[in-house]
Amino acid sequence: FAAKESSGILSGKRFLVSAGPTYEAIDPVRFVGNYSSGKMGFAIAEELASRGALVDLVCGPVSLKTKNPNINRIDVHSALEMHRECLAHFQGADGAVMSAAVSDYRPAKAEEQKIKRSGDELVLKLVPNPDIAADLGRIKKPGQILAGFALETNDEEANARKKLDSKNLDFIVLNSLAEQGAGFMVDTNRITIIGRDQVIDDLPLKSKVELAADIVNYIERLLIHPQG
Ligand code: CTP
Ligand code: CA
Repeated sequence: FAAKESSGILSGKRFLVSAGPTYEAIDPVRFVGNYSSGKMGFAIAEELASRGALVDLVCGPVSLKTKNPNINRIDVHSALEMHRECLAHFQGADGAVMSAAVSDYRPAKAEEQKIKRSGDELVLKLVPNPDIAADLGRIKKPGQILAGFALETNDEEANARKKLDSKNLDFIVLNSLAEQGAGFMVDTNRITIIGRDQVIDDLPLKSKVELAADIVNYIERLLIHPQG
């Protein structure tokens, strides 16, 4: 159903949304990061808020603005900061949508001074970041909804289902990179929504704003008919 036919069930509900990339400092002027624009997560936050939800939007460095006053925006840089804010805001939330492209690794040590150029090789040691979605999955209480995204280049559906299970998600949104006009930096996306009860919604290429409505429709469905 279309957004206008919203059931009203989101009114007054609290949702956490993570969005954008994370930047992992190498030194004061350099970082390890990725090309995530944050557009999908921001569109989901706006869609939830437009249906009456109170949204905590934890976002990495992005050049986007929020419109709806029901969105409480929390800007962070690194995965560790995002992890801390997400854990804090998940308490008492009715659900969370993890759309951030969290850097899986960070430099073992952020240098205090700018690293000087030399003719030598430079080896950067990276250590793993916490899995924010999985940590929320571990503390999730009955009735709380947890959704994630998956970006895969091979065995897309099987890999997405593995993430759904291992992170204890209620549904996962599979991003198809195989398609023109889908993924990072663009306004459109090709997604498949995979639920626990094998429900699959294979959606055509659409704008991220339209897809946000589809994703939030799915959240409303779960709030109305919680799965066992
Ligand atoms: N995610 C997260 N914290 C991380 C890594 C991922 O919260 N440190 C979340 C993402 O926001 C997304 C989901 O987990 O909702 C899947 O992210 P993805 O990068 O596709 O999966 P990973 O588990 O990191 O596996 P890999 O990158 O190796 O495919
Ligand atoms: Ca990853």
